[in-house]
Amino acid sequence: MLVESNETLARIQAQYHQVFDRTSSTVAERSFRSPGRINLIGEHTDYNQGYVLPASVDKAVYFVIAPREDDQIILRATDLDESYTTTLDDLSKPSQTWAFYQLSILEQIQKKGLKIKGFQAAFGGDVPLGAGLSSSAALECALLFALNEIFELGLDRLEIVKMAQKAENEYVGVQCGIMDQFASTFGKEESVIRLDCRSLDYEYFPFPMDDYQLVLCDTQVKHSLADSAYNTRRQECEMAVALLQASHPHIQSLRDATPALVLANKEILGSPVYQRSKYITEEIERVNEGCKDLAAGNLQAFGEKMYQTHYGLQNEYEVSCPELDFLVAATLEMPEVLGARMMGGGFGGCTINLVKASELDSFESKIRKAYQESFNTELPCYRVRIMDGSSEVVEINH
Ligand code: GLA
Repeated sequence: MLVESNETLARIQAQYHQVFDRTSSTVAERSFRSPGRINLIGEHTDYNQGYVLPASVDKAVYFVIAPREDDQIILRATDLDESYTTTLDDLSKPSQTWAFYQLSILEQIQKKGLKIKGFQAAFGGDVPLGAGLSSSAALECALLFALNEIFELGLDRLEIVKMAQKAENEYVGVQCGIMDQFASTFGKEESVIRLDCRSLDYEYFPFPMDDYQLVLCDTQVKHSLADSAYNTRRQECEMAVALLQASHPHIQSLRDATPALVLANKEILGSPVYQRSKYITEEIERVNEGCKDLAAGNLQAFGEKMYQTHYGLQNEYEVSCPELDFLVAATLEMPEVLGARMMGGGFGGCTINLVKASELDSFESKIRKAYQESFNTELPCYRVRIMDGSSEVVEINH
C-alpha cells in the first residue's frame, strides 16, 4: 500500500463525497492507482514475442470506489465533470471513450465468470492523454485492480495484466501487446523491467536517476492514425513469419529470427516487410544489449541505442512523424542529452530523453524554443520519475 500526500487524489476523493450519497454504499470507499508507463527500449517488440524495457511513472489514474447494495454502476469522470450510469446487465458500448474503456473491463470480468455487484467510482488522474504514456492501459488496470480488491476476486497481478490486455483487444479493438498493462501493474521504483513477452519472465534493472533524468517532450500530435496503422504493422510482422516459415519451420514469431536471417531472406520478404522485420529483429537484440549497458552503468552506450531505436522506427518501421523526428534530431547537438527517441506506438505523442540532471532547465528551454520556431506550437515537457506499479493508496493529508 502506498501512503502519500497527493493533490490529485485528494481532489478525486472530494468529488466522490460530493457526488455520492453516503447511504448508497454501506462500505467505506477505498482508493487505488495505476500509473502510466514509459519504455526505454524495445518498441513494437511485445507482439513479436520479443523483449521490452518499460517502467511505470509518477503519473497515474486514481479510482475512489465502493461497492453498492444494488446492481448499478455509476462512474464519475472527475476531470471532465461527466457521469455514466449503467447496470451489470447492460454493457453496450457507450459513446464516451472513458466509459468505453471501463466497460471493456467489466466484460472481461463477466467472460471469466467472476461475480461482482454494483459499484460507484470517481476517477481521474494526471497521465497526459494521447501522449504515448498509455493512459488507457492505466485506466483499465486501475479499475480491474480496484474491483479485484473490493470484491475479493482473487486475481493475481499477471491475471490482471492479461485480462486488461484482452479487454483492449476484444472490446476496444486494438491488437496491442502486453507491455503497457504489464508495466502499469508490475512497475517498481527506480527500476526498469526487462520483460520477455513470450515466457513472461521478467527482471528488474536498477535505473537510478541521480545524475541523469528522463524527460518526455510532448509533440501534442494526437496519434489518430495509430490504431489502424498499429494493426497493419502487426499484420506485416505476421506476414514476415509466414514467409520465413516456409524455409525455417521453427519460426513462430519474429523473436525466432535474427537480423542475419532476415537479410538472407531480403528478396523473399520484399518491401516493406523486409524493413519491418529488420527493425524488429535488431530491436529485440538491442534490448538485451541495453540491459548489459545498464548493468555496467554505461548510460552513454545505452543512450546511443535509444538513437538507434529511433532511426529504425523512423526509417524502417515507419511509425514516426515529422514532429517526433525534429525533436530527436534537435538533441543531437546537445551534449547534455545521452539518448532520445520517439516512445510508444507512434504517429505522435512524446519523445523520451535521457538528460543530465544539472542541465534540465536549459535543455527544456532550448528544445521548447526550437519546437515553437519550427511548428508554432508549445512543447510540454514532463520530468518523470519511475515509481511502483498499481497499488492501493492512502492519502495522508485528507
Ligand atoms: C502501444 C501498445 C503496446 C506496444 C507499443 C509499441 O503502446 O499498446 O503493446 O506494442 O505500442 O511498443
